[in-house]
Amino acid sequence: MTERSIAPQAQPGDSLDVALRIKRLNELYGQDKVRNNLEILIEAARQRNESLDHILLYGPPGLGKTTIAHIVANEMDVNLKVTAGPAIERAGDLAAILTNMRKGDILFIDEIHRLGRAVEEILYPAMEDFALDFVIGKGPSARNIRLKLPRFTVIGATTRLALLTAPLRARFGAILRFDFYDQDALEHIVRRAAELTQVPYTDEGVREIARRARGTPRVALRLFRRVRDYAQVRAEGTITQEVAGEALALLEIDSLGLDSLDRLVLRSIIEKFGGGPVGLETIAASVSEESDTIMDVVEPYLLQLGFLERTPRGRIATPRAYEHLGIPYNGTQPNQPSQASLFEDTPSD
Ligand SMILES: Nc1ncnc2c1ncn2[C@@H]1O[C@H](COP(=O)(O)OP(=O)(O)OP(=O)(O)O)[C@@H](O)[C@H]1O
Ligand SMILES: [Mg+2]
Repeated sequence: MTERSIAPQAQPGDSLDVALRIKRLNELYGQDKVRNNLEILIEAARQRNESLDHILLYGPPGLGKTTIAHIVANEMDVNLKVTAGPAIERAGDLAAILTNMRKGDILFIDEIHRLGRAVEEILYPAMEDFALDFVIGKGPSARNIRLKLPRFTVIGATTRLALLTAPLRARFGAILRFDFYDQDALEHIVRRAAELTQVPYTDEGVREIARRARGTPRVALRLFRRVRDYAQVRAEGTITQEVAGEALALLEIDSLGLDSLDRLVLRSIIEKFGGGPVGLETIAASVSEESDTIMDVVEPYLLQLGFLERTPRGRIATPRAYEHLGIPYNGTQPNQPSQASLFEDTPSD
């Protein structure tokens, strides 16, 4: 494993990211189901001295899929090769990567739902039989050649399980879902960040950041950075509840962690489309945002909060969403033919 050794305390000049990186499974807090499953997979493979089964990780962004891939490579003491679905353009690119793998090595394929068709077809036999199939020559003299590969492991990550083809999904020995983190886990993550960077804090300050982190470690760490800046420049340096509250208000992060885009989406559904149902593409167009961003980043948390419902006819804002935004809810979901029906999209992912 080629890895720079990292001092446990952040050194001056070290980027915060490097300092906060988790390297071992037992340092991972929260995500218990994923961790337990991985512990068993890893321990079993180690005892049998085998390479690890292929693993598929899925869930909303920022919950630790990439982090886990690195941790697994560390725990197995093997090399990790990192790539992403859109980066592997041709079948030959994948073949080149695969022929360079050694026994036990891990190939991490981020956004695996975006692999091209031809590339996927190389991947099937590679994952199943550890072989690459080629055709050499043309016409009657064409021959099939099969190249053996070492037993390697694919770890795939995706935010969209539904977009994965069935044959690809079937080749994973374990499919692990990431859930949003609870308050306790997020507090732990923020506190750890404060301690590693030697930023003074109060428990209430940490709690406030965690509460507004929308269940997501990446968001928690981003808010921590901003609050730390604010504490340093505008306050005495300590992260208190008051300081955190002021800093987050400045960023327009509200009491539940919604940012301006989340609120814009809800407002648009309520004010432009009578609360819905309205299709995703229509919402995206009306707030000038990519529909992928809305689907991957905005929706999962709004669904989790119970602010949004997905129906076959589109998204609906719930009474709780009205309440949070302070908009009176008149009790009925008006069904007037709005613009929504003009550009309907697929009802769900
Ligand atoms: N359990 C955790 N404890 C502490 N920090 C974490 C944890 N999970 C993730 N992080 C941190 O959160 C950030 C995002 O994690 P990561 O990049 O692994 O997410 P991801 O699921 O791969 O996201 P994406 O889908 O956007 O690629 C990283 O800085 C990582 O160090
Ligand atoms: Mg990632």
